Order: sequence, then structure tokens, then C-alpha cells
Amino acid sequence: MSRDAQGHLLPGRVSPTRRVPVGIPRPEYVGKAGPKPYDGDDIYDASEVERIRTSGRIAAQALEAVGAAIRPGVTTDELDAVGHEFLIRRDAYPSTLGYRGYRKSLCTSINEVICHGIPDDTVLVEGDLINIDITAFHDGMHGDLNATFAVGELSLEAADLVTRTQEALNRGIKAVAPGREINVIGRAIESYAKRFGYGVVRDYTGHGVGRAFHSGLVIPHYDASPDYDTVMEPGMVFTIEPMLTFGTVENPGTAEWDEWPDDWTVVTRDLSLTAQFEHTLVVTERGADILTLP
Ligand code: MF3
Ligand code: CO
Ligand code: CO
Repeated sequence: MSRDAQGHLLPGRVSPTRRVPVGIPRPEYVGKAGPKPYDGDDIYDASEVERIRTSGRIAAQALEAVGAAIRPGVTTDELDAVGHEFLIRRDAYPSTLGYRGYRKSLCTSINEVICHGIPDDTVLVEGDLINIDITAFHDGMHGDLNATFAVGELSLEAADLVTRTQEALNRGIKAVAPGREINVIGRAIESYAKRFGYGVVRDYTGHGVGRAFHSGLVIPHYDASPDYDTVMEPGMVFTIEPMLTFGTVENPGTAEWDEWPDDWTVVTRDLSLTAQFEHTLVVTERGADILTLP
């Protein structure tokens, strides 16, 4: 069982660790408490960008495979198995598996779960929202994306939250240009979200990605100016991954959250619905080039 009487989520049972063939190279943090501090920068040359694109494409195709398996009655652990098998068949390591103690090959975040939901025996039901977040490590590079899917038919409110969160990501991507400060991205996202009364989660952000899963570069999804004034330059690689919470103009959504005792699952404090979309991209002379397309 994994729901309470109101239909809110409860922790379920987590299956044993899935194996990765020994021939697939692991990120350096696997088997350790955490990654070693990243001392490289966030700028990549053209051949490195193509390596990140390869990882990003594998992750995006894995996300499509998992998305095709989403239906009422399936468990989040079954979705983890689909993603895991897809990645290892493509000679990629699931970056989340063994990252800071996380024990699964992707994240499954349902309804009020903002991010980092752990696959378990929770059964999907008609009307659920589920975000699938997959990161692939291949040829020394990570590519990271996520998307929110509908389980069967959604309420109109939930369907609108999903399409507008995807549009918020699009607007963040369109704000990317060399010479601009990082904080323009969150300004574009937040001003769009506010039109509908949606909340913007502040404490989980986009990030530099490539050689490291999380490089230390932070991409806020709210208007953080004058802070986060790093200037974007061609070759810079990072994710944008807004998390929006349901609200209305009369009763706006909030940025408040709680973490479950599992130390991972992040839920909205008021258990309102939340959605997220993520891409990895590179800054170009003209704007942004998305690296996590199938
Ligand atoms: N992929 C997530 C992100 O977008 C991070 C997941 S870390 C995990 O940054 F350990 F929870 F899997
Ligand atoms: Co990310
Ligand atoms: Co991600």
C-alpha cells in the first residue's frame, strides 16, 4: 500500500539494487558517500558537447521508453526496471544509482512529490501525474532530463499545470543567450508561472552538468537578480528544470516543501500538485541548443 485515505502518497517497499554489467564505466562517486568536489568549469569544446549530446540522447530515449510503459496499475519500481534495462543496453550507467546514497536508476515523483521520489511498489492510478527524471552517464559525460506524464485522463487543473510547466521550461530556454546573466532564466519562468498563480520552488535548481552530475553552477527558476549574475558564454552547459506548484491567482501556490524520512522524497508542504520538466542545454552564439532530445 502506498496511499493514505485521501489518496496522498506514503512510502512503499523498495526493491533490491539493480545490477550494472561490469563493462559499463561508473561515475567516480559510485561506492562512495558522495562525489569529489568538481574543480573543472562549465564550458565545453565542440567535441565534448557532442559527447554530452550522446549521453543526453540516450537519457531522452530511455525517458520515451519509460513514458510508453506508464499506465494505471504499473508500479514505479516497474518503471525503474524499464529505464535501467534501456540504459545498460545502450552502455550507459544510470547516474542516480549510487549517487549520495540514492539506490535507484531514475526518480519517480507522483502528484505532490516535487522531485526525487524513489521507485517502489506504489501503483499508478488514473488521474495521477508522474515525473520521470533520468540521467545517463556515457563516455565520461552525464546528460540529464525529466518530464511529467499523465496516468490516463487528468483533471483539467492537472492538465493545465503540466502544459504550463512545460511552457515555463521553454521560456527559460528561450531566455538563454551569451552575454546575459543566469538570472534572466528564472525571471522568465517566474513571471510566466505567476500569471496562473502557480508557485515556483526555490530550493531545488538547475545545475551545471557534463563531466560532473552537479557541477556547482546553480540555475535558479525564480527571479534571483541581482544575485546569480554569472554571464552565459558559448559552450556553457547546464540544466533548466522548473518545479511549479498548483495555485490560483486568488490563492497562489507556494514554494514550501517537506522531505520524507527517506532523506530524498520532497513534497509540497500543503500536498498540492506539482509538475516539472528538465532539459540539458549548451549556450550557443545564437541562444541555446538542447542536448537531451531523442
Ligand atoms: N536528476 C536530478 C536532477 O535533475 C537529480 C537526481 S539525484 C538523485 O538534478 F539522487 F535523486 F537521483
Ligand atoms: Co538536473
Ligand atoms: Co534530472
